[in-house]
Amino acid sequence: MRLEGKRALVTGGSRSIGRAIALGLAGEGADVAVNYRRSRADAESAVREIEEMGRRAVAVQGSTDSASDVERFVAGAHDFLGGIDILVNNAGILKRTPLLEIDEEEWDAILDVNLKGYFLVGQAVARRMVAAGTPGAIVNVSSAGQAVAAPNLTHYCVSKAGIEMLTKQMALELAPHGIRVNAIAPGLIETDLNRADIAQEEFRERRLARIPLGLIGNPDDLVGAVVYLASGGEARLVTGASLFIDGGQTIWGA
Ligand SMILES: NC(=O)c1ccc[n+]([C@@H]2O[C@H](COP(=O)([O-])OP(=O)(O)OC[C@H]3O[C@@H](n4cnc5c(N)ncnc54)[C@H](OP(=O)(O)O)[C@@H]3O)[C@@H](O)[C@H]2O)c1
Repeated sequence: MRLEGKRALVTGGSRSIGRAIALGLAGEGADVAVNYRRSRADAESAVREIEEMGRRAVAVQGSTDSASDVERFVAGAHDFLGGIDILVNNAGILKRTPLLEIDEEEWDAILDVNLKGYFLVGQAVARRMVAAGTPGAIVNVSSAGQAVAAPNLTHYCVSKAGIEMLTKQMALELAPHGIRVNAIAPGLIETDLNRADIAQEEFRERRLARIPLGLIGNPDDLVGAVVYLASGGEARLVTGASLFIDGGQTIWGA
């Protein structure tokens, strides 16, 4: 119960990694607001699972790439929870397209959700944390792609590299307010985002060949790290960091 009495908002908490994190925070004692964009039934079932753990929970709809949506759902989460101590910026999208074929619309869509969205939600939550004068923790779900290039993922990897610097900037400017900001950088985690790719033997074998531990992760592999970074006690000296959870993918230069 390392997060007992804490109040958390998880963006994209309806499915996959965000859902595992929302349930994991609740399992450590936090009340949780689950943001979603379209998957209302999934968000509501996550809320029910959290309530069954004896915690309070609410589903808050809104797209993280829209400033007006963000203001509305962050206010809704804040009002329901009575404040926000922990934000997990997780909502992200991915599309695999060769560099020469990415058009402006696709570039903007990826950067808007994956980078601008983290800024918008981070700012809206941090403003409330600062106004409340209470310490807080923000965890940005980045990707191993923040550090290494990958075929057909130019916009995605650029957005994740942006998250690395956004994390440092937020950490620097929010430190005087007792707000720590860190990132996790997962490698290949099987979710709705890539299940079809992983099902293809050629894709799976090519990716596994570049992961020293030879493992494809699942969302639960990320939960402990998020709980640690969110906990003001154990991680009180940690800010601006990126924790790679990638089976060693990014250390392998050969
Ligand atoms: N899977 C991996 O291998 C992997 C590796 C490294 C990093 N990541 C990162 O982990 C995060 C989650 O990925 P995932 O694999 O869990 O993806 P996913 O299975 O596609 O789930 C994405 C979640 O984000 C939500 N979402 C998407 N766009 C949104 C928006 N504009 N506003 C609000 N919610 C939105 C979705 O909700 P709706 O269904 O309601 O749209 C869904 O809950 C992403 O940032 C991704 O880049 C994933």
